[in-house]
Amino acid sequence: MFFINFKLMILIFLLFPFGANSNQKSDLNNSENYKLNKESHFLKLKKEGKPVISDKWMVVTANIQASKIAAKILKNGGTAADAMISAQLVLGLVEPESSGLGGGAFLVYFDNKTKEIITLDGRETAPLLIKENIFQDTNGNPLKFFDAVVGGKSVGTPGTPALLEETHKRWGKTDWSLLFEDAINLSKNGFVISKKLSSSIKRSKRSLSKFLNTKTYFLPNDKPLKSGNIHYNKNYADTLKAFAEEGSKVFYQGFIANDIVATVNNASLNPGVLSHKDMHNYKVIQREPVCSRYREYEVCGMGPPSSGALTIAQILGILENYEISKLGPKNPETWRLIGDASRLAFADRSLYMADSDYVNVPINALISKIYLNERSQLIDRKNKTEKIKAGNLTSKSSLNWGKDHSIELPSTSHISIVDKYGNALSMTTTIENGFGSRLMTNSGFLLNNELTDFSFKSFKNGKKIANNIEPGKRPRSSMAPTIILKNGKPVYILGSPGGSNIIGYVSNAIISMIDWKYNAQEAASVAHGINKFGTYYLEKNTIMSKLLPSLEAMKYKVKLRSFSSGLNIIHIGDKLYGGSDHRREGIAIGN
Ligand code: GLY
Repeated sequence: MFFINFKLMILIFLLFPFGANSNQKSDLNNSENYKLNKESHFLKLKKEGKPVISDKWMVVTANIQASKIAAKILKNGGTAADAMISAQLVLGLVEPESSGLGGGAFLVYFDNKTKEIITLDGRETAPLLIKENIFQDTNGNPLKFFDAVVGGKSVGTPGTPALLEETHKRWGKTDWSLLFEDAINLSKNGFVISKKLSSSIKRSKRSLSKFLNTKTYFLPNDKPLKSGNIHYNKNYADTLKAFAEEGSKVFYQGFIANDIVATVNNASLNPGVLSHKDMHNYKVIQREPVCSRYREYEVCGMGPPSSGALTIAQILGILENYEISKLGPKNPETWRLIGDASRLAFADRSLYMADSDYVNVPINALISKIYLNERSQLIDRKNKTEKIKAGNLTSKSSLNWGKDHSIELPSTSHISIVDKYGNALSMTTTIENGFGSRLMTNSGFLLNNELTDFSFKSFKNGKKIANNIEPGKRPRSSMAPTIILKNGKPVYILGSPGGSNIIGYVSNAIISMIDWKYNAQEAASVAHGINKFGTYYLEKNTIMSKLLPSLEAMKYKVKLRSFSSGLNIIHIGDKLYGGSDHRREGIAIGN
């Protein structure tokens, strides 16, 4: 058997921590050596910058423990939906700082039976009792970001449990309770603390120490959990058991709902106003996918309340008017065009994009080819475009919004899967900031701070801001789970964590694959240039840093920095090719 039992897995992790030299030998017997070699094979490919190649199925997640368990489900005939559920349950344990049952997610699914793209919105909702000035001080000024994040006020009604159940109802093939087994075992018998989790705890020590449950779990004896050590989460195991037996009802109407509501409202810092009615009312919403043509491809993703697919469609729609492939990735002119296309798209995003159940988002007007061609003419010049403004969309549905005031910092996790039935799944999942609100329930998971994705201000120059806070509304997101079709068939499945930089990370990866023919691993590790609001951020210690003088000569303010994208990509060509961002711990596994 290719997949290994739990104890052996722990042993392998201890012997071969992530990034260890794959040529190391173990003392294990031959068949175990085979398993070990196979596993280290995937790590080795990533280290060498090569894609994983497979014939039948593939999964790419942010953590090897999650990828392996999802791979086992796929190997045993499970669908992409089944594998995603198992992966998410494990991610909530091994990468709890990024996503989990206390958060929300967007899912894009290609159903190979109906040949349809379906998008499901499992975003958190604002409590019905929320006030629109919740993130303002007594003078009406926006709070500092972390003053708003930490505590109960920032917690929205979690959507992930309902989304997992809905996904299984629609596309599951494996018995629901079987999908929980490995995550329950890992929680009870121990899992390995990754380097990323350990260093994230160190970085957030102060805020994690503010709440007893959180401190006890992540900082036992006041010490951050150490990378490579084994840790347990018995409360999470009990939660998973209840979820497996009772379904998502236990989260929205059962004892876990009681726990979530009490944790939010009795928080010792910034208590919130989440009610049982909010929990009971929660619904996953199927939304129209946002699809737009880019060259000979159809790029499909999640519409509002995410701004991801719309903003990417705008960037690509503007760039389609230029020969990016001829200009190539090392040309400053390429990056002038990408940077200014992104600035134009972000100007529209600030003004028009929010939860479309609350505001009329002019979706068709925003991605109309005529409109984007007009916008592209604004950057048809030699140097940086000085004045960037949102377009004047006069369609009936457009409203006269004020430019928003949202702060979005990197976090989150992405899962890409193709199963042997030809279904493809792209899901970006989050609790927003690293460790979310820092509130840990008695049920063993962290609660999100998704409400800080709303605009902290409600008005700008007397005009209402589209992404303002309202009861029941879903905060605008940048998450961009994407499936790209060619002739109606999926060819690229991708997405990334990273707050509002997600949009740049995903569009850079798309451009690198479609225009520059990068393979999945090269695209996952593409060097980033990100320009949202004027300053050009170039990834330091990469080929991008060489562009600094040329972009400065084009009148940009340029800064070098590092990025923490986590692109997880599958390319379906003659075979399946998988890549996972070298900047994070993700891994593609296929067979
Ligand atoms: N909280 C990350 C996002 O939704 O964009």
